Amino acid sequence: MPWSTSAAGTARCWPRCWPPPRASRESCSTPPRGSRAPPRSCGGPGLSDRCSIEAGDFFEAVPEGDVMLVKGVLHDWDDRRCTALLRSCRRSIAADGRLLVLEPVMPSSLGTPEAAGAVMSDIAMLVYTGGRERGMTEFRDLFAAAGFELAEVTPPLGGSEVRVLVAKPA
Ligand SMILES: C[S@@+](CC[C@H](N)C(=O)[O-])C[C@H]1O[C@@H](n2cnc3c(N)ncnc32)[C@H](O)[C@@H]1O
Repeated sequence: MPWSTSAAGTARCWPRCWPPPRASRESCSTPPRGSRAPPRSCGGPGLSDRCSIEAGDFFEAVPEGDVMLVKGVLHDWDDRRCTALLRSCRRSIAADGRLLVLEPVMPSSLGTPEAAGAVMSDIAMLVYTGGRERGMTEFRDLFAAAGFELAEVTPPLGGSEVRVLVAKPA
């Protein structure tokens, strides 16, 4: 389960264990500032008994976990904020844990339709959030600055430049 926004538009969800190989519990967090009270469970069939929501600011801390998924979040932020977020993950992740980052990865060649999508997103992130899309080297540098190393990366997911970057504690 990725970070997600609830139907009420207030929850920031953080998965504590995904997928659940041994444990079967996930937890979510929501920043307290400016938010209404978060829902107490993620709801949905099969989720309510193994998913909880915790208030929090991911720049400060995230719940402990052995697998963490950050989807569509890093491109919202500049390098300094991304490093703070990833350091929160590093402090809370198990020694043999894995951090999964799902983001577009800027290709080295920009001459394809898929690359055009990433370029448009890069501009949108710059304009709307002050963030950016990043290439592989930039992701490696971010991970390194936060105490992770890139362990694996998937091919682009169906017709996009989105990939899953798998990082482990360095
Ligand atoms: C671009 S959305 C991505 C949502 C979802 N993962 C997706 O891919 O659709 C970024 C998410 O980060 C959450 N967020 C922003 N600042 C946060 C903070 N300081 N602490 C925790 N969550 C935060 C937002 O509420 C939002 O759910």
